[in-house]
Amino acid sequence: MTFSPTSASTSPMTVADLVRSQPAAVRILQRLGIDFCCGGKKPLADACADVGVATEALLAEVTAAGQTVTLNWSTLPPSALCDTLESRFHAPLAEELPRLRAMAQRVLLVHGHKDPERLEGIADAVDALIADLVPHMRDEEAELFPMIRQGRRADAAALLAGLEEEHEAVGAILKQLRHLTDAFAPPPGACGTWRALYQGLAELEAETHEHIHVENNVLFQGLA
Ligand SMILES: [Fe+2]
Ligand SMILES: [Fe+2]
Repeated sequence: MTFSPTSASTSPMTVADLVRSQPAAVRILQRLGIDFCCGGKKPLADACADVGVATEALLAEVTAAGQTVTLNWSTLPPSALCDTLESRFHAPLAEELPRLRAMAQRVLLVHGHKDPERLEGIADAVDALIADLVPHMRDEEAELFPMIRQGRRADAAALLAGLEEEHEAVGAILKQLRHLTDAFAPPPGACGTWRALYQGLAELEAETHEHIHVENNVLFQGLA
């Protein structure tokens, strides 16, 4: 299957259109630094131009990557989507977020004097991310997902604008973390915890981008 930068309709293909039709695009867009969750409504051609990549080259790479098997979120019915979102993205964070916070505090305590502004900023951003993400996921699990499973579409749709706003806030904190960590590149001589923290934050960014993409562009689209 090959792709054209324009969809069947007259409107240009957006980043979200590409990821919905080709889940294998996720890893490629992440590598290129193209935002596909909160920035998913942007035309693909514009997003490619922003990072200096030819749209046709990107589409060719996505087509090649699509030959391997990737979970296609768009084919899951809404209740199965909720189950998979919970098991794939929500549940692992119960352990991962405290682990990241502990590492950020440890690095600040031990190495804070070497780069106080940066390390305090990272520890604060991790705290802010947890303060936003934990109640957000709790609300999805306690309110949104049960409404979807019970087929209460109108009730669920009424929550979407607020949840999308919270996704934007999480996306902004992840951007700040990327900036503060020089794109998750540890400085020369960084200790093992420092390196593990950056590695963990890079993985958190990738997972959270996909998590938000599936909610905004697949689950919520099906309710709007
Ligand atoms: Fe979620
Ligand atoms: Fe969410």
